[in-house]
Amino acid sequence: MNWLALAYSSVPTRPMSATDLGNLLLQARMFNASQGVSGVLLYDSERFLQYLEGPPDGVQRVWDRVSASPRHRELHVLWREPIDTRLFADWQMGCLEAPASLLQRLANEQWRIAQAVAERRQPLSPALALLRQFASGDQREALGKNSGSPLIL
Ligand SMILES: Cc1cc2nc3c(=O)[nH]c(=O)nc-3n(C[C@H](O)[C@H](O)[C@H](O)COP(=O)(O)O)c2cc1C
Repeated sequence: MNWLALAYSSVPTRPMSATDLGNLLLQARMFNASQGVSGVLLYDSERFLQYLEGPPDGVQRVWDRVSASPRHRELHVLWREPIDTRLFADWQMGCLEAPASLLQRLANEQWRIAQAVAERRQPLSPALALLRQFASGDQREALGKNSGSPLIL
């Protein structure tokens, strides 16, 4: 167990412009890179869902910054668990516009890998499988997002 994964959802305090989001990501990516942390941020203008993974100390330091930000509220940790294998090692905090239906599903899905493995003999939990599928582009159309440019920043 070398890595820690953490996923949470939150609500923007006020709507964020593309410039706000761009500035946030610029700072986030710099700090995350210094901590060896990677992941993805989904945004649908009413809700954020962020997935972080990396060295436990690094993820904790990033989380300290995330949870101190006045730009969002109602932070709800969906999952926090050691993982053996990184799923988003190449993602320097990608930011994707996601349909509300996806964020809703992810917020309600089962995240725990250990439980998924024990109960369903699957390597990933349903939430992680869904997140990875969406991030890799496989499911965007199925989820009602036409091709366009879902990678907003
Ligand atoms: C949705 C959201 C995601 C964030 N993700 C990260 C992150 O991945 N890494 C990080 O260092 N900070 C993250 N932050 C915190 C911002 O980077 C932080 O607010 C920024 O450093 C600017 O600080 P300020 O708001 O005090 O100006 C996040 C904040 C929000 C609202």
